[in-house]
Amino acid sequence: MARAYNFSAGPAILPTEVLQEAQRDLLDFKGTGMSIMEMSHRGKEYTAVHEEAIANLKTLLKIPENYSVLFMTGGATTQFSLIPMNLLGAGQTADYINAGSWGSAAVKAAKKLGKINVIADTSKAIPTCMPANSALKFSDDAAYVHITSNETIAGTQVKEFPKTKAPLVADMSSDMLSRPIDVSQFGLIYAGAQKNLAPAGVTLVIIRNDLAARAPDTLPELFQYRAFIEENSLKNTPPTFPIYILMLVTRWLIAKGGLEGMQKINDAKAAKLYAALDASSFYKGTAVKEYRSPMNITFRLPTEELEETFIKAASKLGMTSLKGHRSVGGVRASIYNAFPTEGVDALVAFMKEFEQKNG
Ligand SMILES: Cc1ncc(COP(=O)(O)O)c(C=O)c1O
Repeated sequence: MARAYNFSAGPAILPTEVLQEAQRDLLDFKGTGMSIMEMSHRGKEYTAVHEEAIANLKTLLKIPENYSVLFMTGGATTQFSLIPMNLLGAGQTADYINAGSWGSAAVKAAKKLGKINVIADTSKAIPTCMPANSALKFSDDAAYVHITSNETIAGTQVKEFPKTKAPLVADMSSDMLSRPIDVSQFGLIYAGAQKNLAPAGVTLVIIRNDLAARAPDTLPELFQYRAFIEENSLKNTPPTFPIYILMLVTRWLIAKGGLEGMQKINDAKAAKLYAALDASSFYKGTAVKEYRSPMNITFRLPTEELEETFIKAASKLGMTSLKGHRSVGGVRASIYNAFPTEGVDALVAFMKEFEQKNG
């Protein structure tokens, strides 16, 4: 059976090798006669999976000792609220850098819970872009600074994270594990899993331990980072199957040469698509060049009708989910870690052919 070239922005493509291994394990995980989904989260088989997922993340990201890796639920959207609930004390202010729809969603959720200072806003900019670090004016006593590392809808990415005095909190939902990062530069990093990490259901949080002490005792325990640190994300039943797939994905990444290796592959894939856009006057990239995302490549055709024809024709050839987000339209090719280079080549070839016929 042929696998589609699945350009979905999320839930997104997973490595074929990982799916094959999960398939092999599905009826009988390590001679237990059951799948990992069907066994206790406190048993020795699941414990080994849980610990390996954490260990692999620590290896890949070189996570310092004073940070914890947490597996939570509720997606990145829940983190939009949990972050101010845990880190923003009464009367304090948090700085937000807003570069798109996801930054705006984070701001909206945080505003319900405390005082938010939007220190830069490019969320409505056309072409899409990110604020320059040199333009950022931080509040003197911000409790934290929030940033979105990759704007999945706008197709933009932070290339260099700003140096901040207050802890930097980053939504890395759509580029987590796609490139090396210096974890020590952040107070908290979070990502919904369903793009680069695993199926939907687990949210990865990496937090500097001292920040977890800020949460008020009145906060329900399952909303506290502190409780997740203390119980190793096992206070209640974690999403065991997504964590198992995350473990396999991190194993796959280590075998691929880690994040340096992955970044090279990702950059090469993105360069092919951006070169195709730049060589054409028929297709038009929607992001300012210096902020172009290697994960979500967004572009337009001369008319909406042509875009619809393009997306339908590509889909017939097995290149699926190229439709841009419903809020902006256009075309979006999401090419996360697991997306194969051959799929990018196929899209580039199809773009040339389509332009010849319709340009
Ligand atoms: C950058 C970013 N942040 C947050 C979200 C929301 O994530 P979730 O659906 O896991 O709550 C998304 C989803 O696409 C995203 O791309």
